[in-house]
Amino acid sequence: DWSMAAYREEAVARIRAQVGDGRVICGLSGGVDSAVAAVLIHEAIGDQLTCVFVDHGLMRQNEAEEVVSLFRGHYNIPLVHVDAGDTFLSALAGTDDPEVKRKTIGRLFVEVFEQEAKRIGGADYLAQGTLYPDVIESVSFTGGPSVTIKSHHNVGGLPERMNMKLVEPLRELFKDEVRALGRELGLPEAFVGRHPFPGPGLAIRCPGEVTRDKLDILRKADAIYLDEIRKAGLYDVIWQAFAVLLPVKTVGVMGDGRTYEYVLALRAVTSVDGMTADFYPYDMNFLGRAATRIINEVRGVNRVVYDVTSKPPGTIEWE
Ligand code: XMP
Repeated sequence: DWSMAAYREEAVARIRAQVGDGRVICGLSGGVDSAVAAVLIHEAIGDQLTCVFVDHGLMRQNEAEEVVSLFRGHYNIPLVHVDAGDTFLSALAGTDDPEVKRKTIGRLFVEVFEQEAKRIGGADYLAQGTLYPDVIESVSFTGGPSVTIKSHHNVGGLPERMNMKLVEPLRELFKDEVRALGRELGLPEAFVGRHPFPGPGLAIRCPGEVTRDKLDILRKADAIYLDEIRKAGLYDVIWQAFAVLLPVKTVGVMGDGRTYEYVLALRAVTSVDGMTADFYPYDMNFLGRAATRIINEVRGVNRVVYDVTSKPPGTIEWE
């Protein structure tokens, strides 16, 4: 893509001009935006960049490993992987309010990141994968004019607290442009084309209290669901798809025994920007297939339902 090749060169030049011989820290979230920002900055300033990946233990199956191998293996970019799952889970214990969960995760993220940044000797700049829509709309994704429906930002306040200047090389781009830039930089298609994933991760896909057991069940079920979506050739048609583990158990029958297990909800939406969304009208056979596989392969789930709510009035995530 000619225009992205040109953009890449310009952006690299701009980063060099801004940073000089300063040191930069980039927080990776596991998502596309921060990864593209990091790879671009690395191209500009090489080892003046260190990436810090605060792994909150709330990622999908294999996701953390994929990020680590992409950076260390594929690009050879210095990466600090902080395995903070225990810290996040203990802080979340006993919490079932969605906003409290988000705030706890956001606060811990900042604390852990700050601690790691200090450990590697600090830096002059903090890099972020901020996009144009984040810039023009520094309110919540769902918030109307004066109501916050979901408090967002995961790393809000970090730059001020840490007294670092910001490097935000994606500030002019929309999501599809970031993906094009990612491809231009050689990120694997499977990574670039990924569905959006919320900062608080699977914690907000486990309504109620989050536990390790629930996360394990959810991860397995979600992976099977996404596998079926890919096999059906639907992954790129759908904007975002995921499973939600409900805090409800129902009775079922397996062989000649009674079961009493969790209900899993499946969600899939089409959307342009996440502000509004339509539920995806699957063929019933697809849903039946996915449900059967999940119930057969995942211990702890004996019933699967499909969410047919659009946004508005529903939100995309359940919390
Ligand atoms: P909702 O559920 O508000 O989601 O319709 C719209 C888009 O935002 C994502 N989302 C979040 N992303 N932190 C994030 O970084 C959050 O707390 C958060 N909550 C929702 C959601 O996945 C969807 O893409």
